[in-house]
Amino acid sequence: MQGMKPNFEKVLKLKKIEEEIKRCEKCSLSKTRKLPVPGDGNVDAKVMLIGLGPGYHENLQGKPFVGKSGKFLDELLELGGVRREEVYITNVIKCYLPNNNPTQDQINLCSNYLDKQIELIKPRVILTLGNIATSYIFRKFNFKLEPMGKIHGKILQLSTLLLQAKIIPMYHPASALYDPGLKKSLRTDWESLKGVI
Ligand code: URA
Repeated sequence: MQGMKPNFEKVLKLKKIEEEIKRCEKCSLSKTRKLPVPGDGNVDAKVMLIGLGPGYHENLQGKPFVGKSGKFLDELLELGGVRREEVYITNVIKCYLPNNNPTQDQINLCSNYLDKQIELIKPRVILTLGNIATSYIFRKFNFKLEPMGKIHGKILQLSTLLLQAKIIPMYHPASALYDPGLKKSLRTDWESLKGVI
């Protein structure tokens, strides 16, 4: 990846999706957001990370995972042997979610942008961070959804005409911030990805 020129056409298409998100007024979150958070990273990324939605700091900076959970995510990326510049990070919900609890309507209205990002970037690996991202992706691709305690860190293979990718559900970094047990489990899961992603 290093030294390779990004695919110009893809860069423009991604910009177009991001512009659409910045103009979006489809739900009430657009009224309370400061900056929408479309996503960030490499358009040619082999690895895509999908979180829930922007928190306080992301809302102010317009970038995903820049707060406390982002700091922990950086540590996890390092354990997994990947650099932030190599991946594309986005969320199911693109505007500030004050309570981290989106309604099904908000998910339905916003997920179209995530669908477009997946379709364009065509990642080889999709890491779903937390329950909302995991259930969205599992439903979208018809995987059997089970509790996170059972499926975290498992590698599932998706093979459709449009997308061949490994789908890997993970605990959300924020859920582990104040839980040493979960933190340990997350670190172990990410370490086991070294060389796989
Ligand atoms: N949590 C998320 O799910 N996404 C972010 O971008 C930040 C925190």
